[in-house]
Amino acid sequence: MITVVSVAIVGAAGYAGAELTRLVLGHPLMDLVTVTSSADAGRRVSELYPALAGCDLVYVPHDEAAIAEAVELAFLAVPHTAAMAITPGLLEAGLTVIDASADFRLRDPKVFSRWYGVEHVCPDLLSDAVYGLPELWREALPGARLVACPGCYPTATLLAAAPAIRAGLVISGRVVVDAKSGVSGAGRTPSAATNYVSAAESITAYKVGSHRHTPEITQGLGDLGLTDVRVTFSPHLVPMSRGLLSTVYLEVDPGLSVGDAHAVYAAHYAGEPFVTVHAPGVMPSTSEVRGSNRAHIGVATDGTGTLIVSAAIDNLVKGTAGQAVQCANLALGYEETTGLDRFAPVF
Ligand SMILES: NC(=O)c1ccc[n+]([C@@H]2O[C@H](COP(=O)([O-])OP(=O)(O)OC[C@H]3O[C@@H](n4cnc5c(N)ncnc54)[C@H](OP(=O)(O)O)[C@@H]3O)[C@@H](O)[C@H]2O)c1
Repeated sequence: MITVVSVAIVGAAGYAGAELTRLVLGHPLMDLVTVTSSADAGRRVSELYPALAGCDLVYVPHDEAAIAEAVELAFLAVPHTAAMAITPGLLEAGLTVIDASADFRLRDPKVFSRWYGVEHVCPDLLSDAVYGLPELWREALPGARLVACPGCYPTATLLAAAPAIRAGLVISGRVVVDAKSGVSGAGRTPSAATNYVSAAESITAYKVGSHRHTPEITQGLGDLGLTDVRVTFSPHLVPMSRGLLSTVYLEVDPGLSVGDAHAVYAAHYAGEPFVTVHAPGVMPSTSEVRGSNRAHIGVATDGTGTLIVSAAIDNLVKGTAGQAVQCANLALGYEETTGLDRFAPVF
C-alpha cells in the first residue's frame, strides 16, 4: 500500500533546501513536517522565500534528536561534513536519509579525506550509500535507506558520457570536461567571487585541476566501465542565477558518424521521463531545462576522433533537489516522477 511519508528538510533555508521545500510542498505523497535553519530559526518559510507564499512552516534549529522523533525521511541540504555528523543517528532512528552533500558520494574514505581535507567520521556507511543517479543506476534505489545524491557537475557529465562508454565507443580513458554553472551553485552566502559585482557580465574558470567534483566524476566514469580514467575538468562560473552545462570530449574512432553516435544516445535514454536527446548536432541550452528536473543532451562529432556531448540541467533541480526527490520516490516505492513536473517552464 502506498502511504504518505513525513519529511524533514535539514538546511531548508539554503538554496538547495529552498528548492526541496518547493518540491516537497507540491508532492502528493510527502508531508513536510520540519524545516531546519539555525540562522533563520523562528522565521516563516514564506517570509524568507515569498515565492512559497502560503507555507506557514517555521524554521527550527538543526536538532538531530527532534528530527529523528518527528519524521520518517530526511533530506539533508547541508554542507559536506554536516551531513555525516547527523546521518548515523538518523539511520539508527529508522529514517531514510537522502543526502545532497558530498559526504557519501565517494566510496573510498581516503579519496574523501584527500579532496575534502577531513577524515570521514562514519566510513562504514560508505558502502551502504546508494549513488542516486536514477537514469544510470536505477536498480540500486528501491528500498535504499541512505542515498548520496550526485554533485551537479557529475550529474550532467555522467549523463553526457554514459551511453558512449556503455556502448564501447570510447577508446581512451582521457576525458575532458568543460562545464559552466550559474551562481546559485555556490549556495546562498555570497563570497568575493560570487557576489553580483564579481559575477555579473563576466565569466571565469575556477578551481581548474582542483575542483572537488573531479574524483566523483572519475569514480562514476570507472563505474560506467571506462578504464585508465584521466579527467581534465574546467568548471566555469557564468553570470546566471541557475543552470549548468557540461560539455564532455571523448576519444572515439575518427570514422564514427554523428548519426551513429546519436542513435546510441537515443536508444540509451529511450523512455526516460526526464532526459531528452536532441537531433544530431543540436546542442542544448540551460534555458530549456530551467526550473525542471530535466536533462537535455546534444551529440556532435568533428572528424578528429572526438565525440562532443553537451548536457544541460538546472543545478538546483536535476542537479540537486529534483534528483533528490526522484531518488526518494524510487527508494520509497513511489512512481519515479511523482511530484516532479515533466516539462520545464517554456520561458
Ligand atoms: N547549490 C547547488 O546548486 C547544489 C548542487 C548540488 C549539491 N549541492 C549541495 O547541497 C548542499 C547545500 O547547498 P546549498 O547550495 O543549498 O548551500 P547553502 O545555500 O549555503 O545552504 C546550506 C544550508 O545548510 C545549513 N547548515 C550549515 N551548516 C550546518 C550544520 N552544521 N548542520 C546543519 N545544517 C547546516 C545552513 O543552515 P542555516 O540556515 O542555519 O545557515 C543552510 O540552510 C551542499 O552540500 C551542496 O554541496 C548544492
